[in-house]
Amino acid sequence: MSQTVPTIRPDAPVLVFDSGVGGLTVLDALRRILPEAPVIYAADNAGLPYGEKSEAEIAARVAGLLGRMTERFQPRLACIACNTASTIALGMVRDVLHIPIVGTVPAVKPAAAATKTGVIGLIGTGATIRQAYVDRLEAEFAQGKTLLRLAAPGLVAAAEAKLRGRTPDPAVIAGVLAEFRAMPGGDRIDTLVLACTHFPLLAEELGEAFGPDVALVDGAEGIARRIATLTGGQEFLRTGPDIALFTRAEQGLASLEPALAARALSRIEVL
Ligand code: DGL
Repeated sequence: MSQTVPTIRPDAPVLVFDSGVGGLTVLDALRRILPEAPVIYAADNAGLPYGEKSEAEIAARVAGLLGRMTERFQPRLACIACNTASTIALGMVRDVLHIPIVGTVPAVKPAAAATKTGVIGLIGTGATIRQAYVDRLEAEFAQGKTLLRLAAPGLVAAAEAKLRGRTPDPAVIAGVLAEFRAMPGGDRIDTLVLACTHFPLLAEELGEAFGPDVALVDGAEGIARRIATLTGGQEFLRTGPDIALFTRAEQGLASLEPALAARALSRIEVL
């Protein structure tokens, strides 16, 4: 019996989804390896920040929005470029959508391989750091090491502000460092996992605060490579501008235009 393999339209986009601008760090990595892929970058700005919401609320929002977006844009693949959404809703989204779904999980594995002191810092949203998913990553990859987790919601707002052209508040960055230093073993951190896609947008500021002896690790390159693998052999054809899609019209969207245009997202739409 012959099986029909669904054909992928060459103009079918890759959908990259986050609560805000954080997923642009994944898009940056994707652009470097797959510049020809048409992309829809979707930000649930009406739901931002996810990190302060309950698991049930995040799961319902993410599954509902991805369902609507998939129906409307028929993407070839969706990437949940958000650690909070992925660690909570990845399984559920995979169950309901019939396209490949790539998630974003805290880069504990490479951090554990890289640390020399054996002490790893992990910053994410409050919702991410309490997930059993992170417990499992720790048990699987960081046995015998110390993983110090810290919720850093202020960094989400700082990254959103930075992409709108405002200077991030140095006190927020300094506060993260101070909180780690106050933890037992915190002064021995040599590897810092950026477990929120917003945080690589602050790599410069975090790098300055933590100093040259602390390596910052995030998962963007690995995620982009996974997307490239899953779409390997497919044709790509861009027939129009790549879209930045938001779930709510707001004044601040205009100030994001330069950052979006720099990533070849030249059309802004509201769902
Ligand atoms: N970018 C999201 C993440 O990777 C979180 C931001 C938020 O709190 O909505 O976890």
